[in-house]
Amino acid sequence: MYRSHTCGELRLTDVKKEVTLAGWVQTVRKFGSITFIDIRDRYGITQLLFSESLNAQLDANPLGREFVLQVKGTVNERSNKNANIATGEIEITVTEFSILNKSVVPPFTIQDDTDGGDDLRMKYRYLDLRRNAVKKNLELRYSVNRSARNYLHENSFMDIETPFLIKSTPEGARDFVVPSRMNPGQFYALPQSPQTFKQLLMVSGYDRYYQIVKCFRDEDLRADRQPEFTQIDCEMSFVEQEDILNMFEGLIKRIFKDVKNIDYTEKVERMTWEDAMWNYGNDKPDIRFDIKLLNLKKPSTVFTNKTDNASLINGVDFKVFDEAETVIAISIPGASEYTRKQTDELTEWVKRPQIGMKGLVFIKVNTDGTYKSSVDKFYSEDKLKAIATAANAKPGDLILILAGTEEKTRKATSDLRMYMADKSGLRKSDEYKLLWVLDFPLFEYAEEDNRWVARHHPFTSPKPDQIDVMINNDPVIKDAANYLAHPYANIKANAYDMVLNGNEIGGGSIRIFQKELQEKMFAALGMDKEEQQHKFGFLLGAFEYGAPPHGGLAFGFDRLCAILGGSESIRDFIAFPKNNSGRDVMLDAPSTIDDKQFDELQIKLDLK
Ligand code: AMO
Repeated sequence: MYRSHTCGELRLTDVKKEVTLAGWVQTVRKFGSITFIDIRDRYGITQLLFSESLNAQLDANPLGREFVLQVKGTVNERSNKNANIATGEIEITVTEFSILNKSVVPPFTIQDDTDGGDDLRMKYRYLDLRRNAVKKNLELRYSVNRSARNYLHENSFMDIETPFLIKSTPEGARDFVVPSRMNPGQFYALPQSPQTFKQLLMVSGYDRYYQIVKCFRDEDLRADRQPEFTQIDCEMSFVEQEDILNMFEGLIKRIFKDVKNIDYTEKVERMTWEDAMWNYGNDKPDIRFDIKLLNLKKPSTVFTNKTDNASLINGVDFKVFDEAETVIAISIPGASEYTRKQTDELTEWVKRPQIGMKGLVFIKVNTDGTYKSSVDKFYSEDKLKAIATAANAKPGDLILILAGTEEKTRKATSDLRMYMADKSGLRKSDEYKLLWVLDFPLFEYAEEDNRWVARHHPFTSPKPDQIDVMINNDPVIKDAANYLAHPYANIKANAYDMVLNGNEIGGGSIRIFQKELQEKMFAALGMDKEEQQHKFGFLLGAFEYGAPPHGGLAFGFDRLCAILGGSESIRDFIAFPKNNSGRDVMLDAPSTIDDKQFDELQIKLDLK
């Protein structure tokens, strides 16, 4: 028997027990003739006391950090108790020990505040995983996993595995491809998601499917994106959007309860895509804080149903605003005291290439009721006051205004909104706010090819009352400059995203389930009949055999874990993640392969 107890288990009630522990040496501290050793395993740390009688043996077998040690001994009450650890009231007086394995000196300390940098820890990820901080993240991941599985099981969902060696599933990224030895010159694609398979399972009658599954996407990486990541992927038959929203609000609330002991009883807010973009500049707004955009000038092309506040800025011959496509203001609570230096810094911040604005206009709404702005030359105090009122600014607030082209300005204002909220401490890590964003446009315009692309994916259905618009109109865009006038530009999708604290944690849609509509969709995306058959013949074929109405969604499992664990980076919640260049630095992958492997695949490398 290697151990009778774990290193996190023993308490005062165990005093006098004879025990055997096994684990890793955390620290060795020598005090005169006695030695204290902390021994660690997955469950905790226990202090070991080696008395003088073991000195000769210790000298002959010196112990170092991360040695694998087995000890036998007696549990005793500690004189010097440590309230910070669960076993802090006891120690083991060692009678016998044996070294199960040695360790070379680890490249960084296995502690919460390790001295190892990111790269080093990634290289020695198996050591990094020994650290408590990382272990806690994986434990959280596992509890999210269990909670999701329990909920889905209780609701009759069935876990069904789908293949990895498949044909392209379009989710908007590039495919990872795998050459086939048995079919020379042909390639599998790894799934960007199991999308088409889960739909086929609906055709097969498995009306509630789920899978916690790896997805592969060759895209540019960020803190919240990995080339292989995990989804909680779900699909249901005989459902409408409302059924899906209710079912998966239930799932997320259950996860909150099981994992964080949070009773999320309030109704999950809902917002249309258009409102999200208009009021927050973003389709995944963080609504934990109530800063909304004031649209002072809307572009002539989008937001046809919205009214701006142009009268507040027009007529003073201020060219920056007059010549801009879009002018947007936000009011930051309690920031009117910003100094010149601070507003200059903000101006520099918006001018950075990532944000790309030319400058920043500010209006200080002073607590004494006066106004001070960077455009005093153009705007009278009355006009400033009118803007401030429209922006819902209170005395003590600072209004920031950006002007420029629509897309850039809206995004910049959204980024500035988040930046200022962080600065003002408005984004509290222990506060969670869920939001459904609904009614996305079905199509996006791809300027380079002058055609439509699917905003979500090609299997998403239009809103029921807009199916006719799709069927009855030719998708070809004749007037590229005026593409927004095309009837397809206004078709809304039966799609939804779930947003948590400004992060898209999940998304899905009600699907197209009629062959004709699916063909029309493929055609709208520029696929002729032949290409449709080549890429999706299997799905179109399946739709001929009684496909039920269906819909679903997928949660980004890693993202959900990262947010619940209070981290920006999903890497911290993945046992063996890749770095930002998509490399596994521990394995040193990707790497070249042997000539023999190329020969077998009948592939000759000719790098450009
Ligand atoms: P979608 O592409 O929106 O939908 O993906 C679902 C969720 O997966 C997460 N996610 C990612 N997480 C980490 N790294 C990535 N590279 C990455 N890409 C996406 C996001 C996202 O909300 N088949 C559809 C779902 C459906 O329609 O049912 C799909 O994959 O949190």
